[in-house]
Amino acid sequence: MNRVSSCFFSRNILKLFFSLVIICSSNSSFAAGEKISYPQLNWSFAGILGTFDRTSQQRGLQVYKEVCSGCHGMRLLAYRNLKSIGYNDDEIKAFAAENTVNTINDDGEIVERPARPSDKFVSPYPNDKAARAANGGAYPPDLSLIVKARPDGANYLHALLTGYVEAPAEKNVPDGMYYNKYYSGNLIGMPQPLYDDGVEYADGTKATPYQMAKDVTAFLAWASEPEMEDRKRLGISVMLFLLLLTALSYFAMKQIWAPIKKQ
Ligand code: HEC
Repeated sequence: MNRVSSCFFSRNILKLFFSLVIICSSNSSFAAGEKISYPQLNWSFAGILGTFDRTSQQRGLQVYKEVCSGCHGMRLLAYRNLKSIGYNDDEIKAFAAENTVNTINDDGEIVERPARPSDKFVSPYPNDKAARAANGGAYPPDLSLIVKARPDGANYLHALLTGYVEAPAEKNVPDGMYYNKYYSGNLIGMPQPLYDDGVEYADGTKATPYQMAKDVTAFLAWASEPEMEDRKRLGISVMLFLLLLTALSYFAMKQIWAPIKKQ
């Protein structure tokens, strides 16, 4: 390698290094900007080797269905997607058929039919205005992407669901608002959704608000990023491949240079 090209290379490496420093520091300053800190839970899906816990996700689906789905939709998730969290075709068919969707019959009239596995999760309200009207003006957001849509999403969601406490005496809580120590501004339009034994788990797990929040978060984390396990698996294979390639290149380089070095 001549001097010009080696200089070119080192300059590029320096650029890459500084870009990485900027990216890392901008991330940490973003984290520093967060005023409220949430308890950091031990999620099975955290880290590069993390995977989803199927039983927790299935309990989470139950919490979503029995508690959250009264107010929140999940319009990006289709019933058939539940296959990835361990349900079979018949279970999914039965689960979907508990809901109804509108369709147009041969006479052009709007009629109802049971939902099919290929339908998206049926939303509780026909439109945003109806959703606001039923919740005192506050809009219950769609939960399909909520874990990705909030910084530190899983910990935030768990904290939010378990963060309903008595408001301090000096805080005025207007009608239709609720005090939550983890919500920005502390006043939220969502009433506390989780109470002891709010659902009855079939596997005998005790349904405390902490447990239900953990399960529904595991379910919503998967809904936000259903391809996470594949992505991590691919990442690990790529790293192993690169490692092998580096070793091979090193030995090839040694062999190619051996006769020249001997001279
Ligand atoms: C009675 C209706 C109702 C139920 C039941 C309910 N929510 Fe909500 N939720 C709301 C409303 C209304 C808002 C909007 C609050 C606001 O904007 O002040 C909201 C907001 C939220 C938010 C957004 C918070 C943010 O950072 O903006 C999340 C996340 C959420 N709910 C999750 C859940 C989960 C999970 C459940 C089930 C365990 C649930 N909700 C049950 C009505 C409900």
